[in-house]
Amino acid sequence: MSTKLNIGLFGFGVVGQGLYDIIKTKNLNLEIKKIAIKNPGKIRSLAPEIFTTDKDELLNNPEINTIVELINDTEAAFEIVSTALKSGKNVVSASKKMIALHLQELLDLQHEHGTSLLYEGAVCGSIPIIRNLEEYYDNELLHSISGIFNGSSNYILSKGFLENMDYATALKQAQDLGFAETDPTMDVGGFDAKFKLIIAAAHAYGIIVNPEDVLNIGIQNLSAYDLQYAREKGLKIKLVPVAKELDAQHVTLFVLPKFVNESEFLYNVEYEYNGVTVQAAFADQQFFFGKGAGGHPTGSAVLSDIAALRYGYAYEYKKAHQKYNLNFTNDVELKIYLRYEDEQLVDDLKFLHIYERFYSGDFKFVTGKVNLQNLIAQQQRIAESKAFVAFADQLTGVSLATA
Ligand code: HSE
Repeated sequence: MSTKLNIGLFGFGVVGQGLYDIIKTKNLNLEIKKIAIKNPGKIRSLAPEIFTTDKDELLNNPEINTIVELINDTEAAFEIVSTALKSGKNVVSASKKMIALHLQELLDLQHEHGTSLLYEGAVCGSIPIIRNLEEYYDNELLHSISGIFNGSSNYILSKGFLENMDYATALKQAQDLGFAETDPTMDVGGFDAKFKLIIAAAHAYGIIVNPEDVLNIGIQNLSAYDLQYAREKGLKIKLVPVAKELDAQHVTLFVLPKFVNESEFLYNVEYEYNGVTVQAAFADQQFFFGKGAGGHPTGSAVLSDIAALRYGYAYEYKKAHQKYNLNFTNDVELKIYLRYEDEQLVDDLKFLHIYERFYSGDFKFVTGKVNLQNLIAQQQRIAESKAFVAFADQLTGVSLATA
């Protein structure tokens, strides 16, 4: 038997409206009782009576047993979600930054109050990756999870690579389509992908990682030279978060632009689509593909969580309870491509191995192996000196020099 859900919805932006559109086509055992919004002056598609600007009208309403939180203010979202969980209401949220920043507290609150927080819509929009990590791969050893987790940056990369559209125009389009975050640095700087990676890693490896400890380098410094380099080698550039098991005790996480070749699934993931590649010990390689941003795709994931709550579904964080004793580390060697202007940066990155060094006019690049810790130490310099770094795991052997 399913429980009737009386929903208090926070936020009626792109995803809130998308969810509403989907719900009204269905005959589910649920009802949206009230919608809390920030700006009462905005023209809305529904009758004004359903809206309120007072969050307590939802949180203190005993008739409302489920909160759906779809706002884009991180701290306000945490306040709403934690209050709801403490007062016995189950919650569905799509606030990836809030969840990644407060994961341990949110786990504890669910445990303490016997409530459930679901967030499929927070990671890769319509792709059901969290539920699969939690339920399907619960007994699988996962070697790695990587993919395209941010629709906006992928949209910009596709527009540039396939249509020669300039960065600013493509970003404006991603914003107009409702894909981009309020602060688009979150998208193009790899922060949004990092938050999603951290959430996925909690379910894949049972580790809770502080976002500040994880490298994120985005696509802001991408230049025509980098695209030329990729094209000449038959590669594309994608912004790729990676979670990788290094050995029985260690997992590393990072977000970097990556050169992908034709044989990789991610090569054909374009525009606002996302893709997740799971490398598992027994199932081997598997690939999930779907729209990662937009009202209806994300709304569909939110609705799936709402529907699961009707049957009392809660994440068990199975990998965390299986005591894998995995620890997060940044002590790992990565093969990278670095296009730079500042020679000192090459020295300071302390390349362990150099494959190729190239100079032609303003185009200077080096490919080689560095320790991830050194990339983290130079993150600020990389951003400010307009250098571009990409993960280049297909680089092989021919070594031209050794640093
Ligand atoms: N800004 C996000 C993206 C929205 O572009 O992927 C979906 O989380």
